[in-house]
Amino acid sequence: MIRLKGPEDIEGIAEAGRIIHSLFEILPEKLVPGVSTKEIDKFIETYIRDHGARPAFKGYRGYPSASCISVNEEVVHGIPSEKKVLRESDIVGIDVGVEKGGYYADSAWTFAIGEVNEEDRRLMETTLLALQRAIKKAETATHIGDISYTIQRTVEKAGFSVVRDFVGHGVGFDIHEPPMVPNYGQPGRGERISPGMVLAIEPMVNAGTWKVRIDPEDGWTVRTLDGKKSAHYEHTIAILDGEVQVLT
Ligand code: MF3
Ligand code: CO
Repeated sequence: MIRLKGPEDIEGIAEAGRIIHSLFEILPEKLVPGVSTKEIDKFIETYIRDHGARPAFKGYRGYPSASCISVNEEVVHGIPSEKKVLRESDIVGIDVGVEKGGYYADSAWTFAIGEVNEEDRRLMETTLLALQRAIKKAETATHIGDISYTIQRTVEKAGFSVVRDFVGHGVGFDIHEPPMVPNYGQPGRGERISPGMVLAIEPMVNAGTWKVRIDPEDGWTVRTLDGKKSAHYEHTIAILDGEVQVLT
C-alpha cells in the first residue's frame, strides 16, 4: 500500500534530507586520492549523528555501514572498506539514507576524484541529466512509467544503458516503500501518481551492458558484468499539486 504524506510529514522528510544535502556539499574535500572508503563512511556516520539523526542503512537487512560507496565498475551497494583506497580519476557513487524523528530521506551522488576522462564525465553528466529530467517530468506525470521512460530515453540516446535489477522507490515513513520506480518503462504504465507521494528517484547508468552481478563473497556489492563504469544519482522528492519539491 502506498502511504501518502501530508505537509508535516514532508517537512519531517525534508529535515532528514537537508542533512544529506549539506553532507554532500562538504564531502568533496574528503574525497582525495589515498583516502579509504571506510574513512569516508566514518566521516559520514559522524556527520549524521552530530546532526541528531541516524544512518538509515546501518543494520538494514544486515547492511554493516552508514553509507554505500561504489567505485568505478561498482554500480551500487559497495561496502566501505579500509582496503578500498581512492585513486586519481576514480568515479565514486556515495549513497546515504538518513532517519530523523521517524522520517527517512535517501540520496546519492557520483563524485569525480581529480580529473576524469571525457567518457566518464559524459557518463556522470548523462546520469545527472536523466535524474533532473525525471524530476521535471514528475510535475506533470500521471503514471510512474512516465518518469521511468524519461530516464531510459535520456540514457539510451546518449549511448549508455540503464540498470534493470535495482529501482527507485517510495520513501519517507521507511527507507523503502512502494511504489517501485524503475529506470526503464513506458509512458502511461505503472502506478498512478498522486499528490502526497514521496519518491526516491535513482538512475543507475552503465557505460556498457545493463547487466550486473552481486558479489558472491560479500552478498552486497553490485558490479557491471562487463567491468565498465557506472554512475548513480538519487534525490528524494515530494509530489505536490502540480509541482515537485526536492527534499534532498
Ligand atoms: N539507497 C539504497 C537504495 O535505495 C538502499 C541501500 S540499502 C542498504 O537504493 F542496505 F544497502 F543500505
Ligand atoms: Co534509494
